Amino acid sequence: MVGRALADHCAARGDEVAAFDRAGLDITDERAAREAFGRVRPRAVINCAAWTDVDGCELDPQRAFLVNSQGVEILATASRLAGAAFVTVSTDYVFDGRKPEGFYTQRDDPHPMSAYGASKLEGERRAQIASARTVVVRSGWIFGAGGRNFLAQVVERMRRGERLRAISDSYGTPTYAPDLAARLRELAELDLPGVFHVVNSGEGTSYEGFARAASEAAGATGVEIESILMDSLKRPAPRPRNSRMRCLLSEGLGLAPLRDWRDALGEFAALTGE
Ligand SMILES: NC(=O)c1ccc[n+]([C@@H]2O[C@H](COP(=O)([O-])OP(=O)(O)OC[C@H]3O[C@@H](n4cnc5c(N)ncnc54)[C@H](OP(=O)(O)O)[C@@H]3O)[C@@H](O)[C@H]2O)c1
Repeated sequence: MVGRALADHCAARGDEVAAFDRAGLDITDERAAREAFGRVRPRAVINCAAWTDVDGCELDPQRAFLVNSQGVEILATASRLAGAAFVTVSTDYVFDGRKPEGFYTQRDDPHPMSAYGASKLEGERRAQIASARTVVVRSGWIFGAGGRNFLAQVVERMRRGERLRAISDSYGTPTYAPDLAARLRELAELDLPGVFHVVNSGEGTSYEGFARAASEAAGATGVEIESILMDSLKRPAPRPRNSRMRCLLSEGLGLAPLRDWRDALGEFAALTGE
């Protein structure tokens, strides 16, 4: 989802883009990564690849760490050898979500509660060691075209008239993939190592709040949305209850905040209705 949005955005900006899917470059294959970057000679590498199946990671932590930690380290090293800046996308799931209210900033210590979160955090750290030009971009609750998660699919499911169940007691900051993509490109250009939190503006919401906003944006107000509690799902991996984020670094650097998530959702709903 994010990789496609990024490739589209960069191509539209006139960049020469070399985009890889898993078949084109397995990030756990060190030789393939070095060979690809040696051939392409990128100015910047932006990694959007990850094993994003949170429950799958919980059941197979070894594979989670192979892709989300070792794979990221391999890309960071290959980027350094190719003389490229390295930007890698991380997650709000590096936090445990126990902060009762407010937003997670760079002042909060990460403390993942799932194998997915732990593998992503380890990927951040390994990349920072492997290349001094590493920019970590933590994002969360991402929605956009081609996405496989609840937020990305909710508008289409509503349009199909599906009855929806949405969690009411878990909060995050929704982020539109094309908005994240634009910021990823800016950060690659800026080439300033650090840990950034990149999410759309606004107070954040619950899954239920997002679903209700989506039903309004899609003009599907007749769709029934059943409110459920997170623990009722009995999923293998625990999720943070509050993973809303804010970026102290972007504010300090004067980077413009991304637009409000409700405006982004409006655009996404209009596009999926075409
Ligand atoms: N979606 C969210 O809400 C969310 C929230 C916070 C952070 N993030 C982070 O944002 C980034 C992008 O996520 P997304 O939602 O765009 O995920 P996505 O749609 O699942 O895309 C991840 C891509 O990585 C590929 N991949 C998996 N293993 C690979 C490997 N070994 N080598 C090369 N490619 C591999 C996948 O290919 P296959 O499909 O073939 O497996 C898939 O195309 C990830 O770093 C994720 O952790 C996502």
